[in-house]
Amino acid sequence: MNKGLLAVALFFAVLAFPLIYNGASAVTGMGKGSPVLEKGKGGKCVKETDWMRRNHMNMLKHTRDDSVRDGVPAGESGLAGCVSCHPKRGEFCDSCHSFVGASPECWRCHHYPV
Ligand code: HEC
Ligand code: HEC
Ligand code: HEC
Repeated sequence: MNKGLLAVALFFAVLAFPLIYNGASAVTGMGKGSPVLEKGKGGKCVKETDWMRRNHMNMLKHTRDDSVRDGVPAGESGLAGCVSCHPKRGEFCDSCHSFVGASPECWRCHHYPV
């Protein structure tokens, strides 16, 4: 490649960098521009942090079904459990949800301090 072409290629690589970088962050959901989350208490979550990040919504629905249908105590996997380690919805759940554009409708019925 001659010098002129190399310079052009470099120029476009530099131009494209923020796009590629932001694209990658959007895919992982984290990285540059992620919401600031209040740290959970107790050192670790009810499951691996990574797993929770992806699956907490399904977990809550399972807990609800087990609790409401079969009377299994919800414990740490229920909403009161989340509150005990993530006491402020606004500093944790909601900062993430507004970032991804989710708005769970649970709070019409369940109390979760903001
Ligand atoms: C015993 C304390 C404890 C309980 C109970 C708990 N968490 Fe966690 N949670 C943590 C800790 C500690 C972390 C990881 C450390 C941190 O906040 O960076 C965490 C991480 C998470 C994450 C990932 C955050 C991130 O950085 O991506 C999510 C989502 C989450 N918890 C949701 C929940 C939900 C929903 C519940 C209720 C079902 C719950 N947690 C119950 C302590 C807890
Ligand atoms: C690391 C980011 C993050 C954190 C922290 C987080 N959530 Fe979520 N939550 C999400 C994402 C992403 C979705 C999925 C949105 C979608 O599918 O449209 C979601 C969806 C949900 C849903 C399902 C909504 C529905 O109507 O189906 C519930 C319920 C929920 N979260 C509860 C919680 C609670 C409670 C906490 C705090 C204890 C919490 N989340 C913390 C990212 C997060
Ligand atoms: C129309 C009212 C209503 C809405 C909306 C609602 N719930 Fe519930 N939920 C209840 C009632 C009533 C119970 C049973 C009483 C109890 O155990 O608190 C319950 C029980 C639960 C339980 C088991 C008990 C506990 O405290 O953990 C979970 C988990 C739960 N709901 C999660 C959710 C989640 C997540 C959402 C949003 C996606 C949601 N609920 C939306 C009314 C509602």
